[in-house]
Amino acid sequence: MQRPTDLHLLDLPIGEQIFADNPDPYMVEARKHHPWLANSTFGLVLTERDAVDEVLRLDEKLKTPASHIVEIMGGEGTNWARFQHECLIARDGDIHDRIRKAVAQAFRPAAVMQYKQRIQLVIGQLLDEWAPKGEFDFEEFASRFPVAVMFGLLGIPRDRIEDVKYWLEMLGQSFCLNKDLFPEINSAFNGLWDFADSLIESRFKAGNSEPKNDILDTLVSAETEGVLSRNEVLDLVLFMFAGGYDTSKNQLGHIMNFMLDRPEMWQRCAEDRDFCDRVVDETLRHSGVATSYRNVDTEFIYRGVTIPKDTMLIFPLGIVCRYSGPFDDPSEFNPERENAKRHTVFGRGMHLCLGQFLARLQMAEGINLMAQRLQNPTRNGDLVWRLFPGVWGPLHLPIKFDAK
Ligand code: HEM
Repeated sequence: MQRPTDLHLLDLPIGEQIFADNPDPYMVEARKHHPWLANSTFGLVLTERDAVDEVLRLDEKLKTPASHIVEIMGGEGTNWARFQHECLIARDGDIHDRIRKAVAQAFRPAAVMQYKQRIQLVIGQLLDEWAPKGEFDFEEFASRFPVAVMFGLLGIPRDRIEDVKYWLEMLGQSFCLNKDLFPEINSAFNGLWDFADSLIESRFKAGNSEPKNDILDTLVSAETEGVLSRNEVLDLVLFMFAGGYDTSKNQLGHIMNFMLDRPEMWQRCAEDRDFCDRVVDETLRHSGVATSYRNVDTEFIYRGVTIPKDTMLIFPLGIVCRYSGPFDDPSEFNPERENAKRHTVFGRGMHLCLGQFLARLQMAEGINLMAQRLQNPTRNGDLVWRLFPGVWGPLHLPIKFDAK
């Protein structure tokens, strides 16, 4: 049996700007050294789609690395640290099952489809504000998008959007593992926590007199029935805001980046709603935003390699499908392919993304309406990429367009 140290693995510079700018040459070279494993300063990187798919399902042998982040950021003893240890993604076993089951129904495809009109309305309002500008950094527009949709779905007045967006930006900084930022991150966490608490309180006060049948109602019922504690409800609200924010906005950035070079596809997005679904799925497959991390809790053997306890494993979920998997010409961006949905960007195993149907719906509705209002978009400055670890996408994507 071989151990990773016996293999001649390439070191991937995943934390460096050169990798974020274009991971292709590094990933291709890494796969010449070994078909599914590479090295990095963060840990072992799985470089093949099927290896990602199979290893990430080994839930009982893996743990999400919450304590690692808390330790590096020096946040012990704070509510932020408690959240890192107790939010859904950090849980496992029966506790995870109970919390996930309590809200899962609100995220099923049929439930999510009920939000369609509200999503269209919110995106329409956002475009009314932004389209007349004729040019903007797409990242700035996209960063309002997931918060505005969430506000629309939860019936929250829009005047708090900027506060929530700021708090979410700060929380995202914890991925950079920069200890100096911790005071701001902690205060952003507390701001969002108080905001979520006031939302839940006002729903409790409204009682059954004004049922909205939305995600908050599901949470409030779960607390009333004793299935979830108040902290668990608030952790879920925070996780939904945070989990849906960086991901959706960066994913929209990837979509726009592709469309800028494919004007005929953008035109078709304006006219053909089904084609928007295809563009979303193919972007998720080719250039997905998400990377997962796991600590090995129990040593295991995979394809003849022993993976020791305490190894950090990195799953670049959003890019492995452009090098491997059941896809013809996997490196090509082709919305016509039939099996794009076999991508891995929503994860695998017990933590499979709960918001995936909502995410796909809001992005597809979004690009359909954007393509109608932001016509003939072109680049208007340099594209700058965010670093790859965490959530990957355009940090700046300046565009100009004909406003409609
Ligand atoms: C493009 C958009 C999105 C992407 C790529 C994405 C990706 C992911 C991934 C990869 C995971 C698993 C992480 C892991 O196992 O390490 C995850 C989990 C999760 N996501 Fe998403 N996500 C997106 C949008 C959303 C949205 C909009 C929501 C809700 C509003 C959401 C809610 C969640 C929740 C609650 C979990 C934790 C599930 C669990 O631990 O059981 N996500 N997401």
